[in-house]
Amino acid sequence: MRPNKKDTEKKIEALLQELTLEEKSRLIHASEFFRSGDVPRLGIPKITMSDGPMGVRNDFYPAKWRPVGTTADAVSYLPCNTAIASTWNRELAYDSGRVLGREARGRGKDMILAPGINIKRNPLCGRNFEYMSEDPYLIAEMVVPLIEGIEENDVSACVKHFACNAQEWERLWVNVELDERTLREIYLPGFEAAVKRAKTKALMGSYNLVRGEHGSQSKFLLTEILRKEWKYDGLVVSDWGAIHDTKAAAESGLDIEMSVFPNFDEYFLANPVIEAVKKGEIAEADLDKKVRNILRFMLRVRLIEIEMKAQKNGKTSAKAVPVADRDPGYFNGSAMHLYAKKTAREAVVMLKNEKHRLPIKPSQTRKLLVIGNNADRLQSNGGGSGEIKALYEVTPIMGLTREYGGNTEVRFTPGYYVPRKIRPEVSWQEDSVSPEVMLDAEDRDKRKNSAKEKELIKKYREEAVRLAKEYDEVVIVGGLDHEYDTEGCDRKDLKLPYQQDALINAVLDVNPRAVVVMLAGSPVDMTAWSDRAQAILWMAYNGMEGGTALAEVISGTVNPSGKLPESLPSDFKKTSAAVLGDYPGRKLTAAEKKKMNATLTQTFRDGVFVGYRFYEKYNVPVQYEFGYGLSYTEYKYSGMTVEKANGKDALFTVSVKVKNTGHVTGKEAVQLYVGEKVVSEDNPIKELKGFDKVELEPGEEKTVRFTLTAKDFSHFSNESNTWQQMKGRMVIYIGASSADIRAKKEVTLK
Ligand code: BGC
Repeated sequence: MRPNKKDTEKKIEALLQELTLEEKSRLIHASEFFRSGDVPRLGIPKITMSDGPMGVRNDFYPAKWRPVGTTADAVSYLPCNTAIASTWNRELAYDSGRVLGREARGRGKDMILAPGINIKRNPLCGRNFEYMSEDPYLIAEMVVPLIEGIEENDVSACVKHFACNAQEWERLWVNVELDERTLREIYLPGFEAAVKRAKTKALMGSYNLVRGEHGSQSKFLLTEILRKEWKYDGLVVSDWGAIHDTKAAAESGLDIEMSVFPNFDEYFLANPVIEAVKKGEIAEADLDKKVRNILRFMLRVRLIEIEMKAQKNGKTSAKAVPVADRDPGYFNGSAMHLYAKKTAREAVVMLKNEKHRLPIKPSQTRKLLVIGNNADRLQSNGGGSGEIKALYEVTPIMGLTREYGGNTEVRFTPGYYVPRKIRPEVSWQEDSVSPEVMLDAEDRDKRKNSAKEKELIKKYREEAVRLAKEYDEVVIVGGLDHEYDTEGCDRKDLKLPYQQDALINAVLDVNPRAVVVMLAGSPVDMTAWSDRAQAILWMAYNGMEGGTALAEVISGTVNPSGKLPESLPSDFKKTSAAVLGDYPGRKLTAAEKKKMNATLTQTFRDGVFVGYRFYEKYNVPVQYEFGYGLSYTEYKYSGMTVEKANGKDALFTVSVKVKNTGHVTGKEAVQLYVGEKVVSEDNPIKELKGFDKVELEPGEEKTVRFTLTAKDFSHFSNESNTWQQMKGRMVIYIGASSADIRAKKEVTLK
């Protein structure tokens, strides 16, 4: 029987009473890079953490950024969050969470530092692949099952980075200004759902500042919103090196200070906080709040139980003991790899398929040429803190070779040349909190190829072109890699690196039927060749079975059903962050510098007009729109109905019939958007408020149902500081994407 809340709080209180000031301080800051401190005298252990989100990261020495280096920490490599969001399938998010949580526990962790759910406001952001979407509703719907899956395993998620962390450029020193409505409608809903619906046990603050305060020590975000408004009593850890001030950190809703430096005793919440409490500058009660949250967290993940004992003097003593039947977890089970494959299959997005160019049937294919470094590149080991040591990773070339079998000659040629890593390998993490990382990014972008490299570029391209003439079937696999989709730096534009445009065009010149696959965690500009290519597939870093899934889609074994969780603009200059916002921010004035510990400040002037909300309102064309993705079959939508609902919060129930009119089984992500009939200046034309993915056999028809609540028709008012329901004529749209609307109906709201 689980203890009741009152009982639990009593025990926490009793254990707290046993602690000295010094011991409290031990609990609220790191004692190793991925561990908090302990109090062995009372049986209180360290909390052990590891990075996600694509798997449980490899282990490091406690105080050195050097991997331990045995093979014992190889794990399942899951599709990245962008890929998970591309499935539009809540069940797969849940399955991925279960795998991640179980492996984290199996590797002895108490907390996995995932998922990352920041809004993909800016396509240049280096960490976009770790995040899900530009749309808060899609994020909220996918993150809840993901967290629930993780936390089933006596281990916690750690939702990050709270909040408004939309760029890597100057990430520690950029201040974000935004109005309340934008914060509430765009940047908070994912976190709010994580806290209120998924009841996440932990959360990580951000590096960046919001309204003048660093996210990880922000009173506004952590105390006012998270603790008071959302009544969150879970754990908050700082981002690594995101604390800058003892008093602010002590007095905010933060619990544990983590960082990238090994001088643990000098952390702001180590010796300095002890001194400050002794001098009376900080109240010990502020530390007590943190310790309560920490102990509560330990109980929730079943790291400890608290034993109470009556003393002779009438008092009760308390101590922590390990929980004997805590879930041990496990990792690298074959079922886990199957889940990774199921998710990967639904994450592949087909962008174009003229003249039924795809699939390429293995039985009719004698020779297949695969061009492009990304076809043969391992992606799991890069990207920054999201890197992992995958037990295995099926690359596209391996996937294709396996899928096509022994009767097809599959040949690989690199096509484009990729220089060796520019960023330092061993201690990038320690450097990641210093401005030098930005300089590294500039090095990368300004880097000139040597004469020898130029020769290689020419040689690779010429060979690809020569072979492309000889092969009937050609697949080019390019895109980005974790030199670009990476923590610590943003890209400078959306152009494909490594002169891929020239390669793709040269191949299409000699073989116009060549299929193009783009592997990327962020939008890239494909306009140099997208009109010419007959077929284009899109795939984010798709886990250990990503190559299998891709090959199965190319061969037709799997019918693609992924849809874009973000718009794909062709040019950064046409995005909201560039047109309306002032990315990457302007330098602070001397007066501003006195008020905040930052170098740049940026106003999110695009407000709620992020992603498709922006492109639709300002009529800006994109390459492919939010929610878009093709299938090998066709779906017919019909018979949309809207009825008044009689549930407590429900306003309407909406239904629509979807029929598979083609010849193969498929899955369709049906989308529901809501907007005003006469759209007011302040509001987006429409916003996603529902989706469901249905599987349909050829000829089969199913009815998809949605419930809409008052909140779905509400906006946050900057004037009244509350949610307000819209009034008048509203339109409910049903679509196969945000632009491909198949049915709509009007309703009136009183
Ligand atoms: C990242 C976090 C990560 C932490 C620990 C930081 O650089 O921003 O997302 O969890 O490092 O590796």
